[in-house]
Amino acid sequence: MIERTLAILKPDCTKKKLSGEVITRIENAGFAILGMKVVRLTNATAGEFYAVHKEKPFYNDLVKFTCSGTSIPIALEKENAVADFRKLIGATDPKDAEPGTIRRDFASSMQENIVHGSDSVESGRFEVRYFFSEKELTGEFVTCS
Ligand code: RTP
Ligand code: MG
Repeated sequence: MIERTLAILKPDCTKKKLSGEVITRIENAGFAILGMKVVRLTNATAGEFYAVHKEKPFYNDLVKFTCSGTSIPIALEKENAVADFRKLIGATDPKDAEPGTIRRDFASSMQENIVHGSDSVESGRFEVRYFFSEKELTGEFVTCS
């Protein structure tokens, strides 16, 4: 099934100037890029985006880190996109990630793990729409700023 998934290049990725390299891996793995933008998330937006983790002990740190710099949300499309993208990025903790995955190769810790990937088909659909309008995704108009 053709699916959509959301990647976010996290603040550690942009700080380390690894965005180009990560995007190359995403393209080489066969994902179509439907949308991409450069953002600095506010506390409110990061908190809302990661709301499923609200009760977790790492929630406050996660929100703070997410707001700490530039992020690049990328809407992706491909057959089996959600599972394939999780495979491409590897486990949450880079120590557990398979060799050759993005997190194993570039992440420095559980928190600074370079890239977000949607965890189900439903969250993929929701998260893509959280950052991109349908018009942006279909190229019906061009975003100039
Ligand atoms: P993401 O949502 O960013 O793609 O990461 P994920 O699915 O692999 O992991 P998830 O469980 O959704 O957690 C979201 C982010 O929270 C941080 N985290 N810290 N025990 C901890 O200290 C812990 N667990 C999770 C990670 O930065 C993770 O990416
Ligand atoms: Mg997650």
